[in-house]
Amino acid sequence: TLTQAEKAAVVTIWAKVAPQADAIGAESLERLFSSYPQTKTYFPHFDLSQGSAQLRGHGSKVLNAIGEAVKNIDDIRGALAKLSELHAYILRVDPVNFKLLSHCILCSVAARYPSEFTPEVHAAWDKFLSSVSSVLTEKYR
Ligand code: HEM
Repeated sequence: TLTQAEKAAVVTIWAKVAPQADAIGAESLERLFSSYPQTKTYFPHFDLSQGSAQLRGHGSKVLNAIGEAVKNIDDIRGALAKLSELHAYILRVDPVNFKLLSHCILCSVAARYPSEFTPEVHAAWDKFLSSVSSVLTEKYR
């Protein structure tokens, strides 16, 4: 669980990210699919070329869900309950992929806000994304 200081750091960096959430979401997915091409197998029905409408639309959905988790940082499990069922029971995304996506989101935020991305913010954001991933993968077994 996140400390009060870590929660505050997450909320602060999210305030920066939120207005650019769509672009950061699309960039995170571009990074995911180019650095870890095996992740593309979950999206056979998508046009994954850079800047495609589907990629941008999906990036926006993913970052919006992250925003919901930030808003409900004391109840991430409750905020993402439906998404957790979707990823576990319907999509069956292998949990390893959540680490890869989290890393790509982290890179996208770091690249865009280098001066805000202090070691403390890095650590808090990493821990937060790890909590989100735990919630989204906990229904598997
Ligand atoms: C769908 C969020 C991780 C694969 C979705 C949706 C959201 C979302 C909001 C749309 C749900 C809806 O339309 O009702 C997230 C978040 C993640 C995450 C917050 C972690 C931080 C992953 C990973 C993969 C993945 C790691 C696989 C590499 C998919 C697929 C869909 C989906 C295949 C359905 C796409 C479609 O057909 O529209 N996710 N996701 N997700 N997610 Fe994730």
